[in-house]
Amino acid sequence: MKNKFPEIYNIGKKEISAVNKVLKSGSLSGFVGAKGAQFLGGTYVKKAEAAFSKKFKVKHAVSFNSATTALHAAVVALGIGPGDEVIVSPYTMCASATAIVMNGAVPVFADIDEKTFCIDPVSVRKCVTKRTKAIMTVNIFGGPSDFDELLKIAKEFDLKIIEDNAQSPGAKYKGKYTGTIGDIGVLSLNFHKVIQSGEGGVLLTNNDKYALRAQLARNHGEVYADQSPEEDIGPIIGSNYRMTEIEAAIAYEQLRKLDFLNKKRTELVEYLTKKLKDIDGLTLPYVAKENKHVYYLYSMKVDEGKLGISRADFVKDMTALGMPVYGGYVKPLYLLKMFQEKKAFNNTNFPFEGPHYSGNPDYSKGSCPVVERMYEKELVFTNICQYPRTKKHIDMFVSAVKKVCKI
Ligand SMILES: Cc1ncc(COP(=O)(O)O)c(C=O)c1O
Repeated sequence: MKNKFPEIYNIGKKEISAVNKVLKSGSLSGFVGAKGAQFLGGTYVKKAEAAFSKKFKVKHAVSFNSATTALHAAVVALGIGPGDEVIVSPYTMCASATAIVMNGAVPVFADIDEKTFCIDPVSVRKCVTKRTKAIMTVNIFGGPSDFDELLKIAKEFDLKIIEDNAQSPGAKYKGKYTGTIGDIGVLSLNFHKVIQSGEGGVLLTNNDKYALRAQLARNHGEVYADQSPEEDIGPIIGSNYRMTEIEAAIAYEQLRKLDFLNKKRTELVEYLTKKLKDIDGLTLPYVAKENKHVYYLYSMKVDEGKLGISRADFVKDMTALGMPVYGGYVKPLYLLKMFQEKKAFNNTNFPFEGPHYSGNPDYSKGSCPVVERMYEKELVFTNICQYPRTKKHIDMFVSAVKKVCKI
């Protein structure tokens, strides 16, 4: 059925004019992969990075061509590699885990908390081994993780925290921006995120050494290291993860809209929640009073018995009415073929098995029962609250829910 709602769209005159300026300048990238004036990119990249670092109140914002590459750079920055483990959520886009594997380390999956859908510190604690180097927590759907507990565990076992904050720029935990609470945080600027530049990512950190190593990972750092033997950089292999000047110019303008877009979305979320809150069998998004959620997606849990309809039929019937509703989110990552077969690099079992690695993480079905229940039975989500949709569209959505659930 045809989409009844305006397309999600947030590009305006400011972005168009910024892009025109870049085009007229003729300089579409300012990067060169060697130590020197162009190692850190061009005018718009630097301007966007300064704006992100000011907005999120961190010392360094390092731009990337995606959150996926920024996450990989975060792992590189922390010196995590073969033989090491990183504890990560299985309920996330695959890049959270593949960024770890890409650097030869092994993801260990902790189960999630069924209120926030972020990793559950109780499960995280059980996953710590002598090989654990970091926790990668994913602030999923726009909401914060349980940082007090995660920071406690990190301190106790001397672990770093990477925040995959791809979905949650602008969210806060006890007054502090998510993405700035751990050692390194990463935002995504891909086209369906809260703010976008088509593709793009930003790495946030207060640590000078991590920022430099991330910049090296972004831009052929092995050359820079060779040219700079006096600097204590550590072993490094870089790539080309650079943002273009056009993307940076768009990202800068989009950042200026972040608060507006988050506010608009939150207003619709609050309106929707008010309308759905008395429906028995639907659990609506949770956020603790002291925190701020930005609702990249509006997530709900379905109790099939109480609602009187299976999740599959709820999604099917809502879809038939033209509503953007999806079931399950993603398959728990450990159930992907790559982890089941422990094969990422051709026919070898690297990094999951071999002389460099002494662990044996549990990727079996049933190992994270909460996430499996969310995926198989309970979770549904919608993007209905995204700008430029209005209360009128939310009313249509609510009527459809009532029709489908025969209320
Ligand atoms: C939680 C999470 N992490 C990482 C990514 C990767 O972002 P990108 O597409 O910018 O590489 C995404 C994108 O969907 C995401 O949702």
